[in-house]
Amino acid sequence: MVKTQKNVPYYITTPIYYVNAEPHIGHTYTTILADTLARFWRLYGKDVYFLTGTDEHGDKIMQAAKKEGVESKEYADRISGLFKSTFEELGFTYNRFIRTTDSDHEEVVTGILKKVYDAGDIYFGEYGGYYCVGCERFYTEKEMVDGKCPDHQKPLEYISEKNYFFKMSKYQDWLIKHIKDNPSFIEPERHRNKVLSFLQDPLSDLCISRPKDRLPWGIPLPFDEKYVTYVWFDALINYLTGIGYPDGAGFEKYWPEVHHLTAKDILIPHSIYWPTMLKAMGTEPFKTLKIHGYWQVDEAKMSKSLGNVVRPLDMKQKYGFEQFRYFLLREMSFGLDSSFSEELLTERINSDLANDLGNLVSRVLGMTERYQNEVVKKVDGHEGKLKDSVKSIAEELPGLMEGFRFRKAMLKIWELVTAANAFVESSAPWTLNKEGKTDELAGVLYALLESIRILAVFLAPFMPETSGKISSKLGIKFEQNLTFTDLVEWGLLPDGTKVQKGEALFPRVEYSAE
Ligand code: MSP
Repeated sequence: MVKTQKNVPYYITTPIYYVNAEPHIGHTYTTILADTLARFWRLYGKDVYFLTGTDEHGDKIMQAAKKEGVESKEYADRISGLFKSTFEELGFTYNRFIRTTDSDHEEVVTGILKKVYDAGDIYFGEYGGYYCVGCERFYTEKEMVDGKCPDHQKPLEYISEKNYFFKMSKYQDWLIKHIKDNPSFIEPERHRNKVLSFLQDPLSDLCISRPKDRLPWGIPLPFDEKYVTYVWFDALINYLTGIGYPDGAGFEKYWPEVHHLTAKDILIPHSIYWPTMLKAMGTEPFKTLKIHGYWQVDEAKMSKSLGNVVRPLDMKQKYGFEQFRYFLLREMSFGLDSSFSEELLTERINSDLANDLGNLVSRVLGMTERYQNEVVKKVDGHEGKLKDSVKSIAEELPGLMEGFRFRKAMLKIWELVTAANAFVESSAPWTLNKEGKTDELAGVLYALLESIRILAVFLAPFMPETSGKISSKLGIKFEQNLTFTDLVEWGLLPDGTKVQKGEALFPRVEYSAE
């Protein structure tokens, strides 16, 4: 059952990415998921807002800039620009690309700090703790592994200084109750359980400032100019700035219908800092936090030093971006880790795309060319099980997308590809043609052409370019005012449409270990 109503807006976010690394498979994956959801719910008829961008303040960025011998802002401009141009080239349909150095964001952060300070939830104190610059956060003794950060495996630095603190601990009981009362607040369940187990120990307050003389690269605190804002307190607020908080129409419309998408590395800031910050500022909590697993590369952790970083533009050039996008959507079970390799990618391209989908489209269009002079004849009553397959996919897809089950959605859509290929064999249009059964032949081809048209609808959010190519081969365009439910209605391909087989959708690829 789909709970999602057409008239409820849909706001989807990705993490804003640190500008100390160039876009890789990880950033690309999360943004592909968000783009797929945005495209799906728009097609479904919802009002969607999709936000992505870059996180540019803090120690880590300042150190990276220093290493290159340039000013922090100049460095951030360059890498943020690279993220933006890459995302444009990949065709992501975000509504805004936000930067934490944008002036409206600085204003919003300043306003929120003032509000929380005036409410008495920020105080001055001294604290010492173990800090990971990679994660830009303190670790508790319990979280540390052999004195190291469990994620970066690097020794943690002990930092002790006078700073401002946010009274996060005050909201611990509220947060536990909210998570328990709202099972879909953090999903999948394994990650929700991790958060609840973290909350079994008393929460400490959150250090939200850094002294300017040590770290000048950040948003100044409105109540003490000797300090700048801690990077996570700054970054999380992007989700509000992006839609015009506090009094923009976007905030009014989209909050709190917000779905935050991140990987497991930043579970704690999103599930603990963020909801307590929202609570303190008197803003409703977000709707859901969805946590996906990590991509490994050739079974190993991806890293610059191992030289196994997978870059989306390289993949686009070598295999085609739609192929890469298909692989990522099809391969990872949401919430679990997965392994990427070019060998696996090649296998999927050849089997699922070139063989199954590509061949289906070229065979059916080829037969329409040969037997009917490229013209669609609308003859009903020969659809066999294809219509049932379409119906069951159309019914299930919205629920799968609501549950972020991308892999299951791809498998479900492929049921129609498989059914249509089997139908070609069982109905043997070549025999019908030989025997001069033109009416039956037209009926069989119509059922196949119509299945392909509906496949283009199903695929539109997942493989937008492929969907467009299929439609143009069929000589049709989706009307803008029609939604998913209208478009998957059987029988819309008009009689007399002229189709064109054209080039293969997916060339076969060779894998070489080089
Ligand atoms: N700047 C913070 C996020 C602030 S959000 C308010 C940050 N940036 S990051 O550049 O490190 O991006 C982390 C995110 O990138 C992950 O949560 C995930 O979305 C994506 N990925 C980075 N590497 C990944 C994999 N190897 N696999 C899957 N996704 C990962 O954290």
